[in-house]
Amino acid sequence: MNDESPSEPRDLDEWASAVMSGYDGVAEAYDDDRDPAHEATLVESLAADLPDGARVLDAGCGGGRAVLETLAGEFETVGVDLSGEQLTLARDRAPAASLARGDLTRLPVADDAVDAVTALHSVIHVPREHHERAFAEFARVLRPGGRLLLTTGVGEWEGENDDWLDSGAAMQWSFHGRERSIELLESVGFDVTEEAVRDDELGGGEWLFVRARLRA
Ligand SMILES: C[S@@+](CC[C@H](N)C(=O)[O-])C[C@H]1O[C@@H](n2cnc3c(N)ncnc32)[C@H](O)[C@@H]1O
Repeated sequence: MNDESPSEPRDLDEWASAVMSGYDGVAEAYDDDRDPAHEATLVESLAADLPDGARVLDAGCGGGRAVLETLAGEFETVGVDLSGEQLTLARDRAPAASLARGDLTRLPVADDAVDAVTALHSVIHVPREHHERAFAEFARVLRPGGRLLLTTGVGEWEGENDDWLDSGAAMQWSFHGRERSIELLESVGFDVTEEAVRDDELGGGEWLFVRARLRA
């Protein structure tokens, strides 16, 4: 564990490559343990605010649990993820969703293209000095007034696990605490509308879920 900020920003490609191979290795184990019911009320509450025919981007969609399998029947959904194994699971789970391999810090999505962005447990795998860039990407692809639901830390932390979920795959996490995350969201154009803390279903600790709206 290391809560010091690095003196130089870490290389995004190098970091993303490690996260991608980690998720390719842990995909089945993560999918077995992921319970979409855990955050269902947050996803349903977002959906209730969306107009008919809304387009939703799930950034770091993983195997499609939580967001794509819930929303793909109701809205036009797009899932983006680094991991090919995760996207394979998502394709089976949410066949109506469009899927693309990509990085949420450089989204393969046009400006002003979606009404909502979800990023559940995904930005937490980006080096935290680049979180502002990820949030700015969410602002870029959202239409004015668009909605955001994301997971971040209650407190700041970063660290790694060499054998996550006993899968043999390594994983790394990096995130700010609540105040800094909200400051960054506001700096790129969001107004925070709701915050909720939930226990981590896969281990100890808690996560902060933030709902925000892009200023019109
Ligand atoms: C903990 S899983 C969560 C998956 C899904 N959102 C859920 O809540 O079940 C994190 C996902 O984010 C993806 N991810 C991590 N960093 C990413 C990045 N920079 N760009 C795109 N996807 C990323 C991982 O490949 C992984 O599938």
